[in-house]
Amino acid sequence: MPGPGSYLFGKEERKALLEVIDAGYLFRYGDMSDQSFLAKVWQLEKEVSQYFNIPYSVAVNSGTSALWIALGALGVGPGDEVIVPGYTFIASITSVIYARAVPIFAEIDNTLNLNPFDVASRITPRTKAIMLVHMLGNPGRLDEMMSIAKENNLYLIEDCAQAFGARYKNNFVGSYGDVGTYSFNVFKTITSGDGGMIATNNEDLYKRAFAIHDQGHLPLRQGVEQGSRTVIGLDFRMTELSAAVLLAQLKKLENIKSKLKERKKHFKDGIKDLNGLRFRTLPDPEGELGTILTVFLPDAKIACEVGKELGSGVVSDSGWHVYNNMEHIIEKKVVDSMGCPFSCPYYKEKGGNVQYKRGMLPKTDELLSRAINISIGVVDSGLGAGFGIDIRSNKNEIDEKVEKFRKAVKKYM
Ligand SMILES: Cc1ncc(COP(=O)(O)O)c(C=O)c1O
Repeated sequence: MPGPGSYLFGKEERKALLEVIDAGYLFRYGDMSDQSFLAKVWQLEKEVSQYFNIPYSVAVNSGTSALWIALGALGVGPGDEVIVPGYTFIASITSVIYARAVPIFAEIDNTLNLNPFDVASRITPRTKAIMLVHMLGNPGRLDEMMSIAKENNLYLIEDCAQAFGARYKNNFVGSYGDVGTYSFNVFKTITSGDGGMIATNNEDLYKRAFAIHDQGHLPLRQGVEQGSRTVIGLDFRMTELSAAVLLAQLKKLENIKSKLKERKKHFKDGIKDLNGLRFRTLPDPEGELGTILTVFLPDAKIACEVGKELGSGVVSDSGWHVYNNMEHIIEKKVVDSMGCPFSCPYYKEKGGNVQYKRGMLPKTDELLSRAINISIGVVDSGLGAGFGIDIRSNKNEIDEKVEKFRKAVKKYM
């Protein structure tokens, strides 16, 4: 069981699910005049909006579709470039390709999120948006990214899939950019197995996002709104069952956050005196979630040995999250025979001709080759976080893992 929310499934989620089954409405729409229709998806959207203080949100079936819908709502498409980090889950990149735009990789820094200087250097007349991904619960450099986006008239998309509930300077992540997206898959802060959400302060973007997620309809349609559909959409709707589980999980969010914080502090305090060990930079230490504790060893060789000793590895090995390991993206293996978006005439006409290759982000490669992720609340070997604790671990269990970590580091340094 990989994410903090999944460890806390209990009678609340069971009760919420049974209520939906008993009511007989599993679809997000129902007869509003029927008291037994619980409208859980709608309620989830309202509660998340209220909690995050972001007026509009749309619940969808995954974080990947949330990203693709967000790009569509912003009108990102053929001929456009979107700047993405070289360290992120694959969906931040594939959603851009499926929007028929071209992802441009940029370096990360020791926050493990986008490096603002590198982002600024990659802006071209084709750039339409920056996708800032708040990796591993840690908000990126939002102030810098907002000013770069503003100065260059670019959209800022916040991919908050790994940071649902994280804050940056008193506001929640997802509220700073033009649009924020979230995931509720099994590795996330709260989960319904799969699920996602889009949040925005902009009513027009909300209406477009809603329409794209549901065949072109306006929010809370009743039946087929012939004549009033404003954009062509598809179906990425969330079911009442997922929303019921998420509403129960949402009530546990504060508890999840404080448990993570406590355990992470305990772990960090236990290893912070180790010579030569560095921690990841946190732009807002109070606001980050604490799902993962990332450490940097002095060089790749030592990190590799320590990782092996711990039974996990270094972050650069992650097949899901590091551009070097995304062979199908590097080789541009798109589904259509024309090779869009890379060979798209709109892109070529604007002078676009992107080439990807392994090793093209040397700073990112260097950082990740000596980074180890210690799990605190997200246990995921795909993140390079196969070693650590989980949200239920008690003091003794944490101390045991701290000791194991200390021994491994001391053996090789
Ligand atoms: C940063 C990031 N973006 C997007 C996604 C996609 O979310 P989902 O798995 O719900 O499609 C994930 C999921 O792991 C993620 O970590």
